[in-house]
Amino acid sequence: MKIVAATGNPHKLREIREILAGMEIVSEAEAGFTDEIEETGKTFLGNALLKARAVAAATGLPALADDSGLCVEALGGAPGVYSARYAALFAPAGWTAGNRALLLRNLEGETNRRAYFACAVALVFPDGREVTAEGRSYGEILYAPRGEGGFGYDPLFYSEELKKSFAEAGEEEKNGVSHRGRALRALLEKL
Ligand code: IMP
Repeated sequence: MKIVAATGNPHKLREIREILAGMEIVSEAEAGFTDEIEETGKTFLGNALLKARAVAAATGLPALADDSGLCVEALGGAPGVYSARYAALFAPAGWTAGNRALLLRNLEGETNRRAYFACAVALVFPDGREVTAEGRSYGEILYAPRGEGGFGYDPLFYSEELKKSFAEAGEEEKNGVSHRGRALRALLEKL
């Protein structure tokens, strides 16, 4: 089955291809889809469905979308669905550093560092069938970045299962316990 990955994020695409090894995953660009989809949903699942429906309708191919983010207990679940745009939406005026720096600043003096990554995936078929699944991965927010791998918040996320940051983990190691790995494997089981 040929599936379009409804994401413009090359890191996500790479992880999706590794986790779903054996399935033919083409990128949005390869499928001729270049529109920006506004993520107006309030939940990970809502956003994943929004993206997958738009790409399936436009390309006529089954579309797989991922919406994911980091939820920090001491911040009431923030940045959550706003993880990608955290600094752009919530930083104080004049802020020039990125999302990770803002997260560290907002946790200054906070000893409760509990957090989890969440991922919702939706596979939408052109005939309207929809299959969805979710996954989580628990850990803590470090006081300073560690490791060079991964993307996004990976250097700040200490995985309680791996006993190291996601950026210190190998790709297979991360995929084995990650929110995205869990969500995609759950989706495969449902399929
Ligand atoms: P979105 O799903 O495109 O809204 O973006 C999710 C955002 O959450 C990304 O831009 C990252 O900042 C963050 N994120 C999601 N998954 C991961 C991950 O596996 N590692 C690090 N950051 C992630």
